[in-house]
Amino acid sequence: MCGIIGINSYKPVSATIIDSLKKLEYRGYDSAGIATLSSGLINEVKSEGRVDILEKNSLVKDMEGTIGIGHVRWATHGLPNSINAHPHSSQNVSVVHNGIIENSTLLKKFLVGKGHKFKSQTDTEVIVHLITENLKSDNIVNSIKKTLKSLHGSFALGVLFKDQPDLIVGARRGSPLAVGYGPNENYLGSDSYALKSMTNKITYLNDGEFCVIKKTHVEFFDEEGKKINKKVLELSSEDQKYDKGDYKHFMAKEIEEQPTTIKNGINEYLDTANNDINIYNFPWKTKDISSITLIGCGTAYHSCLMSKYWFEQLTSLDVSVDIASEFRYRKNRFKKETLYIFVSQSGETADTYAALDLCKKNGMKTCAVVNVIESSISRDSDFVLPIHCGTEIGVASTKAFLGQILILYILTLKLGLLRKDISEKAFLEKLKDLKNLPNLVKQTLQTDNKIQNISNTFNEAKGSMFLGRGFSYPIALEGALKLKELSYIHAEGYPAGEMKHGPLALIEEGMPVVVLAPRDNYYKKTISNMQEVIARGAKVLLITNKSKDEIFSENIWETIEVESTNEDLLPFLLTIPLQKLAYYSALKKGYDIDKPRNLAKSVTVE
Ligand code: F6R
Repeated sequence: MCGIIGINSYKPVSATIIDSLKKLEYRGYDSAGIATLSSGLINEVKSEGRVDILEKNSLVKDMEGTIGIGHVRWATHGLPNSINAHPHSSQNVSVVHNGIIENSTLLKKFLVGKGHKFKSQTDTEVIVHLITENLKSDNIVNSIKKTLKSLHGSFALGVLFKDQPDLIVGARRGSPLAVGYGPNENYLGSDSYALKSMTNKITYLNDGEFCVIKKTHVEFFDEEGKKINKKVLELSSEDQKYDKGDYKHFMAKEIEEQPTTIKNGINEYLDTANNDINIYNFPWKTKDISSITLIGCGTAYHSCLMSKYWFEQLTSLDVSVDIASEFRYRKNRFKKETLYIFVSQSGETADTYAALDLCKKNGMKTCAVVNVIESSISRDSDFVLPIHCGTEIGVASTKAFLGQILILYILTLKLGLLRKDISEKAFLEKLKDLKNLPNLVKQTLQTDNKIQNISNTFNEAKGSMFLGRGFSYPIALEGALKLKELSYIHAEGYPAGEMKHGPLALIEEGMPVVVLAPRDNYYKKTISNMQEVIARGAKVLLITNKSKDEIFSENIWETIEVESTNEDLLPFLLTIPLQKLAYYSALKKGYDIDKPRNLAKSVTVE
């Protein structure tokens, strides 16, 4: 997954392209590049690493041209170096690409046979040479049409032509692409976020479509090269100026913003005057839904798993949870009484989108729980429940996770009430507790010093384990994911009761093990499992909630107590020390917290 930008203007574009690339870094940051057209030549500058490095390149500073394309890369084919960085250019054509060309080996063989010379290890370079080849006998529109038909896989493309000083081509299949409109200039971007500082007038390309961007207007075509009309959408015009403020990292800021995330969700969905939950325009009758399937990837998958425990506890719905990359290729039994819920911060994750697409093609009911409301998953779902946590920049998801589980919990309560699975009294009690959640999150955030010291032990360890049962199990998975992605420490999340079936063999003297044992229904069982790992030499960090009852276990290394509330809501609070543990481990190791190695914020390849 990568980020694309294109600008066709009457004024120099290189500085604006660089600024937009910085906004797109959440899609990939292992290399970056820019190409502009000036004096009838394609100028290309590329570098390994962040956009900052590209910006400092003196060749970029001197770059002329009022038309250009730029790219940030997350490597799929070939090492992340400056040769494999995009744009890739022939004498006539320059291309930026997001996605994967699955038949690139075959196409390369064919093109080499025709005398084309390849410079990089990427799949993208075949597109450059195919267009160059097709241009020998066709005009721009036909050669693009022909090229796109030869490509298998997914892509969003931006193309610049040496002989066309007023034209950028954009094309989409599987990966998102947006067109933006400005005064005497027009733009191409992987998403509207990258274009927001330039325009709020956007058109999204659908799969199979391509466009020709001129300074004064944009033409759209379907896959047969037939001209089509597209709607111009007007997005909210405020440019989300989201900066780190006084924080060292976006992640630190985003962790601290979580009371606001919860408040925003509550303000949006709770009718405090009438003590009710409002889910406006929910398009289905509850009697038409007998089961729910939740689908997501990574942290969003953990949100799905978390809500399975709530849905099962508080409703009589059948609930299943799936990892999107597994779901999309399985033989699924689609049932019309099932509501499919897609959870995604970015709303652009390729696997989650493909799972949504599959459900839509099978006529299913689809609902998205997303943060980015202009995203593909949001636009293409029947119904959207936005999480309203604001921009999340840190690659490791924090506030979006709490936002996702909040909305899923609110939906659970509402469906439970409507289906009469929970009594009105229980519903009202839970609503009362929920209203106090922002305060509890705020108080739980104040446990810093202890976690900073604890993180040293994790940093010295070979590996670690995160254990929990019931409501705490998905949180254990999430805690382990945060630690591994930020600190590069091996961390495994496990159901505490499963340890004796194999993983207990991993425990050795001094191994740090996080045990999530809030005072819920599972408490006693989890404490027994904790004793089993302590007996084998583990250094246990127990995370529980405050209580007047003593903890009956010896040799616990460290204990963190979060605030107390009803057991449904404890997962929100247990998450916070785990986010901080991962943050401080990475901080002490000096790692790049907001952009961990090998990752990207929006995963738009499968
Ligand atoms: C981990 C993380 C990822 C994302 C996953 C799905 O901290 O952020 O695991 O949760 O890539 O992304 P979205 O939610 O954008 O679909």
